[in-house]
Amino acid sequence: MQKDKVELSTVSKMKREGRPITMVTAYDTPTARIVDAAGIDTVLVGDSAANVVLGYPDTIPVTMDELIHHTRAVKRGLERAMLIGDMPFMSYNISIERAIENAGRFIKEAGADAVKLEGGGWVADTVSYIVQAGIPIVGHLGLTPQTAGMLGGYKVQGKDAASAKQIYEDALGLQAAGAFMLVLECVPARLGTLISRKLDIPVIGIGAGNGTDGQVLVYHDLVGIHAGFTPKFVKRYAQAGEIMQKAVETYRHEVQERTFPGDEHSFKIPDEEYEALEKAIQS
Ligand code: KIV
Repeated sequence: MQKDKVELSTVSKMKREGRPITMVTAYDTPTARIVDAAGIDTVLVGDSAANVVLGYPDTIPVTMDELIHHTRAVKRGLERAMLIGDMPFMSYNISIERAIENAGRFIKEAGADAVKLEGGGWVADTVSYIVQAGIPIVGHLGLTPQTAGMLGGYKVQGKDAASAKQIYEDALGLQAAGAFMLVLECVPARLGTLISRKLDIPVIGIGAGNGTDGQVLVYHDLVGIHAGFTPKFVKRYAQAGEIMQKAVETYRHEVQERTFPGDEHSFKIPDEEYEALEKAIQS
C-alpha cells in the first residue's frame, strides 16, 4: 500500500499505470480514520450525507454549511487519502462567482483537496472558471442525483446510442474544461469502459462496471449500515448495522437487568473516605 499523501499527480499516475483507484464516502472523523487506515486513496464527503446521515429524503436539501461541517470532520481523520468535498444543489448553479466562492469554502474552511460537482455541458464553463481559480475539480456524469427528476428518476443512464454519446461528449467536455477526475454513475458497463479508455483523466465508477479506472461506494452501503433501498451496484462487505443493533439491544437489556455497569466499569472510593462521608452527612 502506498504511504505518501495522495495528490492529483498520484491519481493521474495510477491511471497511466493501470492501477485501480479506490474511493469511499465518509461524513465523520471515526469513519475517515477507518477508511484512511484501510488504504483507500480518495475520500468523498458526498452530498449523499443528506440521505445517508442527515435524514433528508434525497440530496436536494443539504446545505453548504452542513457539508463544510462534515468535510472538516473528515479532514481531522485523514492522513493519506485525498479529500474531496461535494458541492450541494444550487451551490454552483446560480452564478459562476457563487460557484467559485462555494468551491473555495471547501478548500479554505474545510481543508479539502478538491471539489466535485454534477453535470455535463452546462457546467463546463463553471468547471473551467473554478479550475482557473486554482481549485481542482471532479466531474460527475451519468445518473446525477441532484437532477434525477430531469433524468426520469434514479435510472441507468446511457442505455441507447444517442444518450450514451451525450454522456461521452460531456465527459470529453469536462476533461477539456480542466476536471482532473470524473465520477461516472449508473451507466452500462461497456459505456463505463469506453469512456475510461477515451479519457486521459481517471474515471471512477459507481454502477459503471468493472472497466473504469476506479470505484466508489457509499461507506454505509459498503459496511451494511444503511437501512434504505440497496441499488444493484452496491456490494455489502459486512452487516455492520446488524452488529450495531445487537450491541445496543444487549446494552438496553443489561441496564434493565442491572448487570451493567459491573465492578470493572465502576470507580472506587476508599472505605475510610466513604465512612467519613456517611458520618458527615448524618444529621
Ligand atoms: O454523494 C455521493 O455520495 C456521490 C457518490 C455516490 C459518487 O456522489
